[in-house]
Amino acid sequence: VKDNFRVMPESVDTFRELTVSDQSRDELGAGLTECKFPVEDLDLYLTTLRQAFAKLPPDVLREIGCFGRHVAAPGALRLRNLPTDPVLPLTPADGGPSPEKRTAVSEGVVLGLCELIGLPFALHTEKEGSLVHDVVPVAAGAATQTNQGSKVFLTFHNDIVFDAEGTYDRANPDFIILFCLRQDRGGEAVTYYADARTAVQQLPEAVLSTLRQPLFRQNAPGSYVRNFAAGEKVLSDPVALIAGPLNAPEIRLAANGVEPLGSAAAEALETLRDACRSVAHQVRLAPGDALLLNNRKGVHARSAFSAHHDGSDRWLQRCYVRHELWSIRERADLRDPWLH
Ligand SMILES: [Fe+2]
Repeated sequence: VKDNFRVMPESVDTFRELTVSDQSRDELGAGLTECKFPVEDLDLYLTTLRQAFAKLPPDVLREIGCFGRHVAAPGALRLRNLPTDPVLPLTPADGGPSPEKRTAVSEGVVLGLCELIGLPFALHTEKEGSLVHDVVPVAAGAATQTNQGSKVFLTFHNDIVFDAEGTYDRANPDFIILFCLRQDRGGEAVTYYADARTAVQQLPEAVLSTLRQPLFRQNAPGSYVRNFAAGEKVLSDPVALIAGPLNAPEIRLAANGVEPLGSAAAEALETLRDACRSVAHQVRLAPGDALLLNNRKGVHARSAFSAHHDGSDRWLQRCYVRHELWSIRERADLRDPWLH
C-alpha cells in the first residue's frame, strides 16, 4: 500500500486557465438575459441553468467537471470570456445586492457554474442568507480582513464557517466561485491562490510537523463576529492548519486571525504564510472572468486596491458550493422545498 502521507508529488498542476469562445459566450448569454434574480422557484431556475450550461463545448465542460471531481485536479480554474449583463448599474456601496440590476446574467453564470461542480448553498450568517454574494468594497469595512475590505492586503485564508463543534472546518464550502462584474478603476486588485500541495513542499519538516498539531485557534469570520458576537473574538478549539496526505493536504487558515499556541507554532504560522506567498498564482480578474477555487486544497488572498465608493468600484459576485449537504444537515432549513 502506498503511503500517501510520505510521498511528495514530483510536479503538480495547481492552476488552469481556459477562454470560452465568443460564439459559446454569446449563445450562453442569450439564454441568461431573460432571467431575473432572485427567483420564486429556485430549483426550477437551477434546472434551466443546468440545461443552458450543458450546451457549452465538451472540452470546456470536461475541464470544469475534472476540477470539481478529481483529488489531483488543480485547485484554481480561471474561465475567461463568460457572458456579462448588457447594462451594469453602479456598484452598490453597501455590500449589495443592487436594486438597480435589471438582468441576472452574472447570477446565472455564477449559479450555472455551481451546478457543474456541486451544490450551491447559503448560510444565515453570511450575507443574510443570500445564495449569491456581492463582494464590493464598503467604506466602513475598508480596513477589515473581510470581503468588504480594500485598503489592506487580505491575508491568505480559506473561507471558514463558525460551528458550535468548535473546529470551524466542517460546514465550510468545498468550492468558492468568484465572478467579476466590474474591475477596479486602476486595475490594482490582484487575487492570489496558493495551493497547499506546493506550499508544503517549501516547509522544513519540523515546521510541517508543528502545523499538523492542534496548536492554533482560529477566529470566526469577520461577518459572524460583527453580526453575532458584538465584535468580540470567537475562537475555535485548538486545531491543526495542515491535515491529510502530503500529495493532497487540506489547509485551514482563517482570515480573521489565527492565534498560535506557543512560539514554535507562531514561527510555523509565519513560515506557512511565507510559503503561500512564494507559490501563489496571481490573477487580475476582469469583467467576464470567473475564478473557481477549491477551498480545501488551497488558500486565497487579495491585494489592497483603491476604492472610491462612488459606484465605480470593483464588483464581484460569489457563491459557496459543497459536494454534499447531508453531513451538515443539522444546519438545514427544513421547510420542504417541494411545498413552496
Ligand atoms: Fe475569502
